[in-house]
Amino acid sequence: MFKKNLVAASILAATSLLLTGGCAATNTGKVDYSKMTPEALAEYLTLESGSFDLDQPTQEGTTARSRVVQDDLQKACSLKKGQELDDQTRAKIMADAAASIKYPAGGFKLGDWKRGRELAWSGFGFRLGNNPDNHKTREVGANCYNCHQIATDRTGGTLGTVLTGYGKLRGNSEDMLKYTYEVIYNPHTYYACTIMPRSGTKNILSQKDILDIMAYLFDPNSPVNK
Ligand code: HEC
Repeated sequence: MFKKNLVAASILAATSLLLTGGCAATNTGKVDYSKMTPEALAEYLTLESGSFDLDQPTQEGTTARSRVVQDDLQKACSLKKGQELDDQTRAKIMADAAASIKYPAGGFKLGDWKRGRELAWSGFGFRLGNNPDNHKTREVGANCYNCHQIATDRTGGTLGTVLTGYGKLRGNSEDMLKYTYEVIYNPHTYYACTIMPRSGTKNILSQKDILDIMAYLFDPNSPVNK
C-alpha cells in the first residue's frame, strides 16, 4: 500500500514538473487562458505563444508570419457559421480572380500528360517546418490528388469534385479548355470562396505546368480517361 502510494506520488510530482516546465516554455505568465474567447486563444497560440517559428524563411522569400496573414479574399471568405457572402462581394471576388489570369501566348496547347500526372499527384513544395521543402532538389507539385479523385489507377481525395474521365466526359472544346485553364489558374473566377488554391495567380504553377496538367485531364491516352 505504502509503496503503491509512493509510486503514485512520484508520478504526480513528475507530471506536475513536466507540466510547469511545458507551460513555462510557451506561457510568459502574462496570459490567462481562462479569460480568453476561443478566437483570441487561437490567435494567441498561433501568433504569439512561440509554439511555431513564425520567423523562419519561406520559399517565396518572406517569413512564415506572412503566411498566416489573411489577404482581402481570405478575410471576405472567412465567414462565421450562419453568415453569407453578399452578392456584391461575391461579384468582386470573381472579377478580381478573372483579372489575375494570364493566358498562354500560343493558346491552350495541351502539354505532356505524363509530366502533368507527376505534378497532379505531388504535394511537394512550399511546406515549412522541420524539413522545409527545397525547390532546388525537387519540382513543386500541384497537389490536386489531395482533394480530387482524378483517375482509376490511384486513390485521391474527396474534398473536390471527381475528375475521373474528365476529357472523355466533357470533350475538348475551346470553351472547356479555357474553363479548365481558368479554374486551375484561379478557381475563385467561378467558385468565389472555394478552398482550391490559386495556383497560377500565386505562382505555384507556371503556364506550362497548367498545360501539362490539362493534358493529363484531357488526353485520351492519359489514365484519367481510361
Ligand atoms: C485544397 C483542395 C483542392 C486542391 C488542392 C485542388 N482542388 Fe480542384 N476543387 C476543389 C473543390 C472543393 C472544388 C469545387 C469548387 C467549390 O465549390 O469550391 C474544386 C473544383 C475543381 C474544378 C472545377 C469543378 C469541375 O468539376 O468542373 C476543377 C476542374 C478542379 N478543381 C481541378 C483541380 C486540379 C487540376 C487541381 C490541381 C492543379 C486541383 N483541382 C486542386 C478542391 C481542390
